[in-house]
Amino acid sequence: MAKKAEAGKSGSNGGGEVSLRALVIHGANLNLLGEREPEIYGRVRLEDVDRELIELGRELGMAVVAFQSNSEGEIVERIHASRTERTDIILLNPGSYTHTSVAIRDALLAVKIPVIEIHLSNVYRREPFRHYSTIADIAAGRIMGFGVDSYSLALRAVRGVLKSARSDRH
Ligand code: DQA
Repeated sequence: MAKKAEAGKSGSNGGGEVSLRALVIHGANLNLLGEREPEIYGRVRLEDVDRELIELGRELGMAVVAFQSNSEGEIVERIHASRTERTDIILLNPGSYTHTSVAIRDALLAVKIPVIEIHLSNVYRREPFRHYSTIADIAAGRIMGFGVDSYSLALRAVRGVLKSARSDRH
């Protein structure tokens, strides 16, 4: 079952202007954050991560929409849906699909929206099969190893990432 969370309908940041819209996608097994292997992923639950990201987004003048699914197909569909709504950047932790999913890579290439790859753990300190990512070379940036702070660090970096993505195109 896919789950979504989003900032107040208008995407308002308490009276301030929303200048950017960020879509946060959490992949497989991340719905169990807080109870799943807490020694690796910590004890904070996903709904608390999303609530804090939405709040941080308000402070930064960004509308944050969060989505989680255990299904590769639903993640692909959610990426496609970002074509019909304004999405400036995708913050994506694909979970284990990071290491296997050509479909998610192709969806990101199809919609042409900049993506930041996020991981709670430093995958390079773990099993070799986690060292390969199907999206590493198409991501504008990658943040990993900071636990749930990986997401907030990524959100804080969005403006800079978009600026350099734009100047790359010119
Ligand atoms: C993860 C790392 C992946 O290897 C793993 O399969 C996950 C979580 C991370 O956030 O550290 O599910 O993406």
